[in-house]
Amino acid sequence: LSTAPPLQLAENYFKLYPGESDPVWGNPCDDHRHQKIWSRNKSCDSLPKFLVIGPQKTGTTALYTFLSLHQTIASNLPSPTTFEEIQFFNAHNYLRGLDWYMDFFPVDSNTSTTRYYFEKSATYFDGELVPKRVHALLPRARLVTILVSPAKRAYSWYQHVKARGDVIANNYSFHQVVTASDTAPKALRDLRNRCLNPGKYAQHLERWMTYFPPQSIHIIDGEELKNNPVEVMNELQKFLKITPFFNYTEHLRFDPKKGFYCQVIKGDHTKCLGRSKGRHYPPMEEKSLKHLQRYYLSHNTALVKLFKKIGIRIIPNWLKEDLSDKN
Ligand code: A3P
Repeated sequence: LSTAPPLQLAENYFKLYPGESDPVWGNPCDDHRHQKIWSRNKSCDSLPKFLVIGPQKTGTTALYTFLSLHQTIASNLPSPTTFEEIQFFNAHNYLRGLDWYMDFFPVDSNTSTTRYYFEKSATYFDGELVPKRVHALLPRARLVTILVSPAKRAYSWYQHVKARGDVIANNYSFHQVVTASDTAPKALRDLRNRCLNPGKYAQHLERWMTYFPPQSIHIIDGEELKNNPVEVMNELQKFLKITPFFNYTEHLRFDPKKGFYCQVIKGDHTKCLGRSKGRHYPPMEEKSLKHLQRYYLSHNTALVKLFKKIGIRIIPNWLKEDLSDKN
Protein backbone atom coordinates (compact mmCIF):
# COMPACT_ATOMS: atom_id res chain seq x y z
CA LEU A 1 0.00 0.00 0.00
CA SER A 2 1.49 3.36 -0.96
CA THR A 3 0.25 6.89 -0.68
CA ALA A 4 0.19 9.79 -3.13
CA PRO A 5 -0.98 13.43 -3.31
CA PRO A 6 -4.78 13.66 -2.82
CA LEU A 7 -5.81 14.01 -6.48
CA GLN A 8 -3.58 11.20 -7.65
CA LEU A 9 -4.66 9.04 -4.75
CA ALA A 10 -8.29 9.61 -5.70
CA GLU A 11 -7.56 8.71 -9.33
CA ASN A 12 -5.83 5.50 -8.27
CA TYR A 13 -8.65 4.65 -5.92
CA PHE A 14 -11.41 5.12 -8.48
CA LYS A 15 -9.45 3.11 -11.05
CA LEU A 16 -9.53 0.26 -8.54
CA TYR A 17 -13.16 0.82 -7.48
CA PRO A 18 -15.00 2.49 -10.41
CA GLY A 19 -18.37 1.60 -8.84
CA GLU A 20 -17.63 3.98 -6.00
CA SER A 21 -17.10 7.07 -8.12
CA ASP A 22 -20.77 7.99 -7.57
CA PRO A 23 -20.84 9.33 -4.02
CA VAL A 24 -23.57 8.33 -1.59
CA TRP A 25 -23.71 10.66 1.42
CA GLY A 26 -24.38 8.80 4.65
CA ASN A 27 -25.58 10.24 7.93
CA PRO A 28 -22.55 11.30 10.03
CA CYS A 29 -24.56 10.79 13.23
CA ASP A 30 -25.09 7.13 12.45
CA ASP A 31 -21.41 6.36 12.94
CA HIS A 32 -19.59 7.66 16.01
CA ARG A 33 -16.24 7.60 14.15
CA HIS A 34 -17.67 10.04 11.59
CA GLN A 35 -19.23 12.18 14.27
CA LYS A 36 -15.91 12.38 16.12
CA ILE A 37 -14.06 13.91 13.19
CA TRP A 38 -16.90 16.26 12.30
CA SER A 39 -16.58 19.98 12.89
CA ARG A 40 -17.94 21.04 16.31
CA ASN A 41 -20.44 23.46 14.82
CA LYS A 42 -22.10 20.73 12.74
CA SER A 43 -25.14 18.99 14.09
CA CYS A 44 -27.58 16.45 12.80
CA ASP A 45 -30.29 18.86 13.92
CA SER A 46 -29.53 20.63 10.67
CA LEU A 47 -30.95 17.81 8.65
CA PRO A 48 -34.61 17.70 7.69
CA LYS A 49 -36.93 15.36 9.58
CA PHE A 50 -39.31 15.01 6.70
CA LEU A 51 -39.44 15.60 2.98
CA VAL A 52 -42.30 16.59 0.71
CA ILE A 53 -41.29 14.63 -2.36
CA GLY A 54 -43.86 15.76 -4.94
CA PRO A 55 -44.69 14.95 -7.67
CA GLN A 56 -44.80 18.29 -9.47
CA LYS A 57 -48.17 19.99 -10.00
CA THR A 58 -50.06 18.24 -7.25
CA GLY A 59 -50.25 21.15 -4.79
CA THR A 60 -46.76 20.93 -3.33
CA THR A 61 -46.37 24.71 -3.05
CA ALA A 62 -49.66 25.04 -1.18
CA LEU A 63 -48.58 22.28 1.21
CA TYR A 64 -45.16 23.89 1.65
CA THR A 65 -46.78 27.25 2.44
CA PHE A 66 -49.26 25.76 4.90
CA LEU A 67 -46.51 23.79 6.67
CA SER A 68 -44.39 26.93 7.00
CA LEU A 69 -47.19 28.57 9.04
CA HIS A 70 -46.62 26.05 11.83
CA GLN A 71 -44.53 27.53 14.64
CA THR A 72 -42.32 24.47 15.17
CA ILE A 73 -41.88 23.52 11.52
CA ALA A 74 -39.23 25.30 9.48
CA SER A 75 -38.31 24.94 5.85
CA ASN A 76 -34.85 25.28 4.37
CA LEU A 77 -33.37 28.66 3.45
CA PRO A 78 -34.21 29.58 -0.15
CA SER A 79 -31.89 28.55 -2.95
CA PRO A 80 -30.67 31.41 -5.20
CA THR A 81 -31.46 29.32 -8.29
CA THR A 82 -34.36 27.04 -7.44
CA PHE A 83 -36.05 29.20 -4.76
CA GLU A 84 -37.88 27.20 -2.10
CA GLU A 85 -36.67 23.89 -3.55
CA ILE A 86 -33.14 22.68 -2.86
CA GLN A 87 -33.29 19.81 -5.37
CA PHE A 88 -30.36 18.09 -3.72
CA PHE A 89 -31.06 14.38 -4.06
CA ASN A 90 -32.16 14.31 -7.68
CA ALA A 91 -29.67 16.28 -9.72
CA HIS A 92 -26.16 17.68 -9.95
CA ASN A 93 -26.53 19.45 -6.59
CA TYR A 94 -25.94 16.09 -4.94
CA LEU A 95 -22.31 16.30 -6.01
CA ARG A 96 -21.93 19.57 -4.08
CA GLY A 97 -21.87 17.48 -0.94
CA LEU A 98 -23.29 17.34 2.53
CA ASP A 99 -22.04 20.69 3.83
CA TRP A 100 -23.67 22.42 0.89
CA TYR A 101 -26.97 20.73 1.72
CA MET A 102 -26.78 21.35 5.46
CA ASP A 103 -26.10 25.06 5.03
CA PHE A 104 -29.75 25.35 3.99
CA PHE A 105 -30.76 24.29 7.52
CA PRO A 106 -28.96 26.65 9.92
CA VAL A 107 -28.78 25.72 13.59
CA ASP A 108 -30.51 28.43 15.57
CA SER A 109 -28.31 28.91 18.63
CA ASN A 110 -30.70 31.48 20.19
CA THR A 111 -33.46 29.02 20.85
CA SER A 112 -33.42 25.92 22.99
CA THR A 113 -36.24 24.25 21.07
CA THR A 114 -35.23 22.15 18.10
CA ARG A 115 -36.93 23.16 14.91
CA TYR A 116 -38.65 20.51 12.92
CA TYR A 117 -36.93 21.03 9.59
CA PHE A 118 -38.35 19.86 6.29
CA GLU A 119 -37.69 20.43 2.64
CA LYS A 120 -39.92 20.18 -0.40
CA SER A 121 -38.54 19.33 -3.81
CA ALA A 122 -41.29 18.14 -6.11
CA THR A 123 -38.97 16.35 -8.54
CA TYR A 124 -37.81 13.88 -5.88
CA PHE A 125 -40.86 11.68 -6.38
CA ASP A 126 -39.87 10.17 -9.72
CA GLY A 127 -36.07 10.50 -9.55
CA GLU A 128 -34.43 7.09 -10.11
CA LEU A 129 -31.66 7.55 -7.54
CA VAL A 130 -33.51 9.66 -5.04
CA PRO A 131 -34.95 7.01 -2.65
CA LYS A 132 -31.55 5.34 -2.29
CA ARG A 133 -29.80 8.64 -1.65
CA VAL A 134 -32.43 9.92 0.77
CA HIS A 135 -32.32 6.66 2.68
CA ALA A 136 -28.51 6.78 2.97
CA LEU A 137 -28.59 10.26 4.52
CA LEU A 138 -31.97 10.33 6.27
CA PRO A 139 -32.92 6.73 7.03
CA ARG A 140 -35.53 7.73 9.59
CA ALA A 141 -37.06 10.58 7.59
CA ARG A 142 -40.77 10.71 7.01
CA LEU A 143 -41.96 11.24 3.48
CA VAL A 144 -44.98 13.12 2.28
CA THR A 145 -46.41 12.77 -1.20
CA ILE A 146 -49.50 14.25 -2.84
CA LEU A 147 -51.42 12.42 -5.55
CA VAL A 148 -54.03 13.79 -7.93
CA SER A 149 -55.45 12.29 -11.12
CA PRO A 150 -52.32 11.62 -13.22
CA ALA A 151 -54.20 12.84 -16.31
CA LYS A 152 -54.96 16.19 -14.66
CA ARG A 153 -51.44 16.38 -13.28
CA ALA A 154 -50.04 15.91 -16.81
CA TYR A 155 -52.31 18.68 -18.12
CA SER A 156 -51.33 21.07 -15.34
CA TRP A 157 -47.65 20.31 -15.98
CA TYR A 158 -48.06 20.99 -19.71
CA GLN A 159 -49.74 24.34 -18.94
CA HIS A 160 -46.91 25.13 -16.55
CA VAL A 161 -44.06 24.51 -19.02
CA LYS A 162 -46.01 26.24 -21.79
CA ALA A 163 -46.51 29.33 -19.62
CA ARG A 164 -42.80 29.29 -18.85
CA GLY A 165 -42.02 29.55 -22.56
CA ASP A 166 -41.04 25.99 -23.46
CA VAL A 167 -40.74 26.00 -27.25
CA ILE A 168 -42.02 22.46 -27.82
CA ALA A 169 -45.01 22.94 -25.51
CA ASN A 170 -45.80 26.13 -27.41
CA ASN A 171 -45.55 24.40 -30.79
CA TYR A 172 -47.58 21.30 -29.99
CA SER A 173 -51.00 20.95 -28.42
CA PHE A 174 -51.41 18.95 -25.23
CA HIS A 175 -53.05 16.19 -27.24
CA GLN A 176 -50.13 16.08 -29.67
CA VAL A 177 -47.69 15.86 -26.75
CA VAL A 178 -49.42 13.05 -24.88
CA THR A 179 -50.14 11.02 -28.00
CA ALA A 180 -46.68 11.52 -29.56
CA SER A 181 -45.37 8.19 -30.86
CA ASP A 182 -41.89 6.77 -30.47
CA THR A 183 -41.06 7.92 -34.01
CA ALA A 184 -41.81 11.57 -33.15
CA PRO A 185 -38.93 14.09 -32.97
CA LYS A 186 -36.74 13.53 -29.91
CA ALA A 187 -37.56 16.87 -28.29
CA LEU A 188 -41.27 16.04 -28.47
CA ARG A 189 -40.73 12.54 -27.07
CA ASP A 190 -38.65 13.97 -24.24
CA LEU A 191 -41.39 16.45 -23.35
CA ARG A 192 -44.01 13.66 -23.54
CA ASN A 193 -41.96 11.53 -21.14
CA ARG A 194 -41.37 14.35 -18.70
CA CYS A 195 -45.08 15.09 -18.82
CA LEU A 196 -46.30 11.50 -18.37
CA ASN A 197 -43.72 9.59 -16.35
CA PRO A 198 -44.27 11.15 -12.92
CA GLY A 199 -47.92 10.03 -13.12
CA LYS A 200 -46.97 6.35 -12.99
CA TYR A 201 -47.51 6.60 -9.27
CA ALA A 202 -47.40 2.93 -8.25
CA GLN A 203 -44.06 2.38 -9.96
CA HIS A 204 -42.44 5.32 -8.17
CA LEU A 205 -43.98 4.52 -4.80
CA GLU A 206 -42.76 0.92 -5.07
CA ARG A 207 -39.23 2.25 -5.56
CA TRP A 208 -39.53 4.43 -2.45
CA MET A 209 -40.87 1.44 -0.57
CA THR A 210 -37.81 -0.65 -1.32
CA TYR A 211 -35.99 1.77 0.98
CA PHE A 212 -38.66 3.10 3.34
CA PRO A 213 -41.42 1.21 5.17
CA PRO A 214 -44.96 2.22 4.17
CA GLN A 215 -45.55 3.59 7.70
CA SER A 216 -43.02 6.34 7.03
CA ILE A 217 -44.81 7.50 3.88
CA HIS A 218 -47.87 9.73 4.12
CA ILE A 219 -50.01 9.99 1.00
CA ILE A 220 -52.21 13.06 0.65
CA ASP A 221 -55.16 13.17 -1.72
CA GLY A 222 -54.47 16.38 -3.68
CA GLU A 223 -58.19 16.99 -4.21
CA GLU A 224 -58.65 16.96 -0.43
CA LEU A 225 -55.75 19.38 -0.08
CA LYS A 226 -57.58 21.72 -2.45
CA ASN A 227 -61.04 21.36 -0.94
CA ASN A 228 -60.39 20.68 2.73
CA PRO A 229 -56.83 21.71 3.60
CA VAL A 230 -57.57 22.07 7.32
CA GLU A 231 -58.42 18.38 7.64
CA VAL A 232 -55.37 17.44 5.51
CA MET A 233 -53.09 19.51 7.76
CA ASN A 234 -54.63 17.96 10.88
CA GLU A 235 -53.94 14.46 9.57
CA LEU A 236 -50.44 15.43 8.56
CA GLN A 237 -49.66 16.82 12.01
CA LYS A 238 -50.78 13.53 13.52
CA PHE A 239 -48.60 11.58 11.11
CA LEU A 240 -45.58 13.75 11.91
CA LYS A 241 -46.37 13.64 15.65
CA ILE A 242 -45.69 17.34 15.74
CA THR A 243 -46.41 19.48 18.79
CA PRO A 244 -47.95 21.82 19.68
CA PHE A 245 -50.96 21.12 17.50
CA PHE A 246 -51.56 24.05 15.15
CA ASN A 247 -55.14 25.04 14.53
CA TYR A 248 -55.28 25.72 10.80
CA THR A 249 -58.98 26.65 10.95
CA GLU A 250 -57.97 30.14 11.98
CA HIS A 251 -55.23 30.45 9.39
CA LEU A 252 -56.69 29.16 6.13
CA ARG A 253 -59.75 30.47 4.36
CA PHE A 254 -61.33 29.83 0.96
CA ASP A 255 -60.82 32.86 -1.27
CA PRO A 256 -63.64 32.99 -3.87
CA LYS A 257 -61.61 35.23 -6.17
CA LYS A 258 -58.64 32.85 -6.24
CA GLY A 259 -60.84 29.76 -6.12
CA PHE A 260 -58.49 28.16 -3.56
CA TYR A 261 -57.75 28.23 0.14
CA CYS A 262 -55.33 30.98 1.12
CA GLN A 263 -53.54 32.14 4.24
CA VAL A 264 -55.49 34.50 6.51
CA ILE A 265 -53.57 37.66 7.31
CA LYS A 266 -54.54 40.58 9.48
CA GLY A 267 -58.00 39.37 10.35
CA ASP A 268 -59.92 40.01 7.18
CA HIS A 269 -57.41 39.68 4.39
CA THR A 270 -56.02 36.65 2.63
CA LYS A 271 -52.66 36.01 1.06
CA CYS A 272 -52.92 33.52 -1.81
CA LEU A 273 -50.27 31.72 -3.81
CA GLY A 274 -49.00 33.55 -6.89
CA ARG A 275 -50.59 33.51 -10.34
CA SER A 276 -48.56 30.49 -11.43
CA LYS A 277 -50.38 28.34 -8.84
CA GLY A 278 -54.02 27.83 -9.64
CA ARG A 279 -53.59 28.94 -13.23
CA HIS A 280 -56.48 29.73 -15.56
CA TYR A 281 -56.56 27.61 -18.69
CA PRO A 282 -59.26 25.92 -20.79
CA PRO A 283 -60.48 22.49 -19.64
CA MET A 284 -58.72 19.44 -21.03
CA GLU A 285 -60.20 18.11 -24.28
CA GLU A 286 -62.35 15.02 -23.74
CA LYS A 287 -60.25 13.00 -26.23
CA SER A 288 -57.05 13.73 -24.26
CA LEU A 289 -58.70 12.78 -20.99
CA LYS A 290 -59.92 9.48 -22.45
CA HIS A 291 -56.51 8.79 -23.95
CA LEU A 292 -54.79 9.43 -20.63
CA GLN A 293 -57.27 7.41 -18.60
CA ARG A 294 -56.48 4.48 -20.91
CA TYR A 295 -52.76 5.23 -20.77
CA TYR A 296 -52.74 5.23 -16.96
CA LEU A 297 -55.17 2.30 -16.57
CA SER A 298 -52.55 -0.30 -15.62
CA HIS A 299 -50.69 2.19 -13.42
CA ASN A 300 -53.85 3.25 -11.61
CA THR A 301 -54.89 -0.39 -11.16
CA ALA A 302 -51.47 -1.10 -9.66
CA LEU A 303 -51.95 1.92 -7.37
CA VAL A 304 -55.23 0.54 -6.01
CA LYS A 305 -53.46 -2.79 -5.35
CA LEU A 306 -50.61 -1.00 -3.62
CA PHE A 307 -53.03 0.99 -1.46
CA LYS A 308 -54.70 -2.26 -0.40
CA LYS A 309 -51.36 -3.89 0.31
CA ILE A 310 -50.25 -1.09 2.62
CA GLY A 311 -53.61 -0.81 4.34
CA ILE A 312 -55.05 2.34 2.76
CA ARG A 313 -58.75 1.64 2.72
CA ILE A 314 -60.13 4.87 1.31
CA ILE A 315 -59.56 5.08 -2.42
CA PRO A 316 -59.51 8.72 -3.63
CA ASN A 317 -62.47 9.75 -5.79
CA TRP A 318 -60.21 10.80 -8.67
CA LEU A 319 -58.76 7.30 -8.77
CA LYS A 320 -62.19 5.70 -8.82
CA GLU A 321 -63.25 8.08 -11.60
CA ASP A 322 -60.12 7.46 -13.68
CA LEU A 323 -60.77 3.72 -13.39
CA SER A 324 -64.52 3.82 -13.89
CA ASP A 325 -66.12 1.57 -16.56
CA LYS A 326 -66.94 4.51 -18.80
CA ASN A 327 -63.31 4.60 -19.85
P1 A3P B 1 -52.80 24.52 -11.50
O1 A3P B 1 -52.06 25.82 -11.52
O2 A3P B 1 -52.64 23.72 -12.74
O3 A3P B 1 -54.27 24.69 -11.12
P2 A3P B 1 -47.42 22.61 -7.45
O4 A3P B 1 -47.36 23.62 -6.35
O5 A3P B 1 -47.04 21.24 -7.00
O6 A3P B 1 -46.73 23.08 -8.68
O7 A3P B 1 -48.95 22.45 -7.83
C1 A3P B 1 -49.69 23.49 -8.43
C2 A3P B 1 -51.15 23.13 -8.29
O8 A3P B 1 -51.55 23.21 -6.92
C3 A3P B 1 -52.08 24.07 -8.99
O9 A3P B 1 -52.20 23.60 -10.32
C4 A3P B 1 -53.37 23.97 -8.17
O10 A3P B 1 -54.38 23.24 -8.82
C5 A3P B 1 -52.95 23.22 -6.91
N1 A3P B 1 -53.35 23.81 -5.63
C6 A3P B 1 -53.79 23.10 -4.55
N2 A3P B 1 -54.07 23.91 -3.54
C7 A3P B 1 -53.81 25.17 -3.96
C8 A3P B 1 -53.93 26.46 -3.33
N3 A3P B 1 -54.36 26.58 -2.08
N4 A3P B 1 -53.59 27.55 -4.06
C9 A3P B 1 -53.16 27.41 -5.35
N5 A3P B 1 -53.02 26.23 -5.99
C10 A3P B 1 -53.34 25.12 -5.29
